Amino acid sequence: MSDTPKSMQAAYVERLGPVSEIRIGELLVPAPRAGEVLVQVAAVAVNAVDTFVRSGSYATEVPFPFVLGRDLAGRVAALGADVDGFRVGDRVWTNSLGHAGRQGATAEYAVVPVDRLYRIPDGVDELPLVATVHAAATAFLALHTHARVRPGETALVAGAAGNVGRAAVQIAREAGARVIATASASDLDDVRRLGADVALDYRDPVLGTLLREALPHGADVHLDTSGHHDLDLAVDLLAPRGRIVLMAGLRARPELPVGGLYTRDGSILGFAISSATVAELADAAELINRMLASGTLTPPRIEEAPLTAARDAHARLEAGALHGVKLVLRPAQAPPD
Ligand SMILES: NC(=O)c1ccc[n+]([C@@H]2O[C@H](COP(=O)([O-])OP(=O)(O)OC[C@H]3O[C@@H](n4cnc5c(N)ncnc54)[C@H](OP(=O)(O)O)[C@@H]3O)[C@@H](O)[C@H]2O)c1
Repeated sequence: MSDTPKSMQAAYVERLGPVSEIRIGELLVPAPRAGEVLVQVAAVAVNAVDTFVRSGSYATEVPFPFVLGRDLAGRVAALGADVDGFRVGDRVWTNSLGHAGRQGATAEYAVVPVDRLYRIPDGVDELPLVATVHAAATAFLALHTHARVRPGETALVAGAAGNVGRAAVQIAREAGARVIATASASDLDDVRRLGADVALDYRDPVLGTLLREALPHGADVHLDTSGHHDLDLAVDLLAPRGRIVLMAGLRARPELPVGGLYTRDGSILGFAISSATVAELADAAELINRMLASGTLTPPRIEEAPLTAARDAHARLEAGALHGVKLVLRPAQAPPD
């Protein structure tokens, strides 16, 4: 800690509430306790869930003043007691700060429990990595942890040009699945480049017919990242023993054709990344690192802004003004590349 300053710039709130609660100011640099690592932050992603935690719409324990954000990439600045496997200067990332009692990431320094900290692979830059990890870990949890996708199965990914959808297409392909994707018409070529076998415009008036043609044996896994759940269609498209994964649409209340689901031996699985275990997140991190290093997981379009723009970033995300763009915030005093 000898070279570490006593205070740092951070984006934080004193209480949960609207964007106007966000403050940019100085907080004390936290000291790592046993089993924790102090990281000098190079880049922080801005995710929808950060706005849910800040507003209180996603209930979770937070300490005040509460630093926003959950994903960071940076360099190890100091080690707490009983930390093995990392050294000062190592390039690292995490994607599970800012909820369940843990402080957040949008600051010049952050403390990370060592079991939530992963190395950045050689040749991978902090910005594309941090822009990718939340969505990619979510897609991993959906496809592998919960839906248990197998090689040769067919995965239907709705919202395939979004953050989670892009990652889901690539991770499903990597798992050996055939991928049917839906997205806006202008994104279909991009979704095909990511590896979708079939890409369809979700606004097409005959989408249901086109999906039935593309899925002659049904969908083994159905992942709708858009939060617009048409469970009548999803169940109708489901293969025997198919799995529908729900992970978006906090307030959605769709109708469910019960008979169609159970006569297919189908199941509906829901999950939130915030509830993932340390072991599940580590499994996701291992795959993400491997795919980023090999170039098989590609980042979304990135817009970079200073940490001081955190309020504007939350406002734009809440207004739905970030089509296909991932915002990444960078502290003024970032570690050297
Ligand atoms: N459960 C979890 O752990 C977890 C984790 C991460 C994210 N999430 C949630 O997952 C959702 C997706 O996140 P994201 O970052 O991927 O959002 P995103 O980048 O906005 O992606 C959503 C995509 O859905 C598309 N879409 C909209 N309506 C559609 C429809 N009717 N059919 C098919 N596609 C449609 C959008 O396309 P256009 O923009 O072209 O219309 C957009 O590309 C959010 O609600 C987020 O809160 C949940």
